[in-house]
Amino acid sequence: MRIFHLSAECYPVAKVGGLADVVGALPKYQNLLGMQAAVVMPYYNRKFVQENEFETVFQSSTLLGIRRLYFEILKEKTDKLGFELYLVKIPGLIDRENIYSYPDETEQFIAFQIAFLDWISYSQQKPDLIHCHDHHSGLVPFLLYHSKLYTRLADTPTIFTIHNGQYHGAFGWDKLSYLPEIDLTKTGLLDWAGGINPLACAVKCCWRYTTVSPTYLEELTINSNGLEYLFYLEKAKGVGIINGIDTDIWDPKTDLMIAEKFSIKMQAKGKQANKEALCSRFNLSPDVPLVSFIGRLVIEKGADLLATAMEQSFNEHPGKFNFLVLGAGDKEMESELLQLKDFYPDQCTAFIGYDEALAHQVYAGSDFLLMPSRVEPCGLNQLYSLRYGTLPMVRSTGGLKDTVIDFGDEGGYGIRYNNASVEDICIAVSRALVLYDNTKHLQALRKLMMSLDFSWDRSAKEYINLYESLNLTI
Ligand code: ADP
Ligand code: GLC
Repeated sequence: MRIFHLSAECYPVAKVGGLADVVGALPKYQNLLGMQAAVVMPYYNRKFVQENEFETVFQSSTLLGIRRLYFEILKEKTDKLGFELYLVKIPGLIDRENIYSYPDETEQFIAFQIAFLDWISYSQQKPDLIHCHDHHSGLVPFLLYHSKLYTRLADTPTIFTIHNGQYHGAFGWDKLSYLPEIDLTKTGLLDWAGGINPLACAVKCCWRYTTVSPTYLEELTINSNGLEYLFYLEKAKGVGIINGIDTDIWDPKTDLMIAEKFSIKMQAKGKQANKEALCSRFNLSPDVPLVSFIGRLVIEKGADLLATAMEQSFNEHPGKFNFLVLGAGDKEMESELLQLKDFYPDQCTAFIGYDEALAHQVYAGSDFLLMPSRVEPCGLNQLYSLRYGTLPMVRSTGGLKDTVIDFGDEGGYGIRYNNASVEDICIAVSRALVLYDNTKHLQALRKLMMSLDFSWDRSAKEYINLYESLNLTI
């Protein structure tokens, strides 16, 4: 079965967050299960494309309004990622370094989608399914079914996966002319709240939409930045499938990015060696518990609560634990965390920036991983942390709720709390410190965490079941 995954991110080509991890892994696991999954993404001028060989497989031009755009489809020559990787390159529009935040981002993603459709249409390809991820490819289902240009492909099934329902990619009707010729009686499908809303449009037009956890499917009807009613109306089309993790990359037994590799059997020694390496890099004592946070410093992740909550916890438990943060994002949050580090230099460190290798070392060398997210569609950090024997301290929301059971409950292994608040974080820290003092209990929990299976094998099969339910032959 031939599937195209369309995405703005894909690890290791270009990554900002978990979207990249998912799109870099799911197609690989699908291919191991006998499918022919490929990834199509915009061309970014960064390390991966500079260091790997690509061939041009298609060249043409298309129209974005009255602007003629020349584009190329480049294919990575060796399929080294476990799937065919195609990049859409449009000189002057899609050939820059960063993934997001250009003033003409709307034009970039519309052009990306049109170029993809032109390519498969003109080169006479007939995929069995197109799987779109987030709003950057949200117009594809609409264009497939309601643009005269692509009638040959109009019976192609589409799946739309929502990784983050807070971002819709909405733009004004003044940009309607950027779309190729469409059936004007269908423009209502593009609309939400008086604008063109690619996320809403995808939910309306796709055959099925999925969310990256079952709980998030429910939550979208309550909190989706204005689309709550749409998700309520369309819920019968929705399926929640929890993400997996790529165990080729995230495995403490083989991970080349950590100071000492370790198995479940050797977890006590391995965790300690990694903690010592991490603490020595940041001048922290390895003799007290280490609580860490990794992630984008944004409100959704509760990153605004970190500095106050940690200050309060440092005062409640002087000298009893250390805190490490690895992240970047909101400038105010960055400076609050740097200030916290200045006030508590022996207990706190803040690495402001993005560092993939350091993230691996933090998962391996920390005792606890804090995730006070307000919104967490799935969350991969807690899954990586479980695999590396680091106990997740999570707010009970979205995928965190679906993957972490509190250690006080039967079969539990993590710490859960209900509110994204300073108070709840401080209580979670106090519980963590009590648990840390009971070495036997903590070690038993570590073994349990490391033995859990959140690999893609299971979730990739769930996607196949979904494809099969559309009556497709695989
Ligand atoms: P989101 O996609 O919302 O950011 P996820 O938990 O799904 O959240 O995925 C985050 C991914 O990004 C993980 O792979 C995490 O390790 C990584 N990550 C986030 N911030 C950083 C950072 N500053 N440095 C390195 N890796 C990071
Ligand atoms: C989004 C979500 C995150 C999820 C990731 C991958 O970025 O914020 O919770 O894990 O996508 O699906």
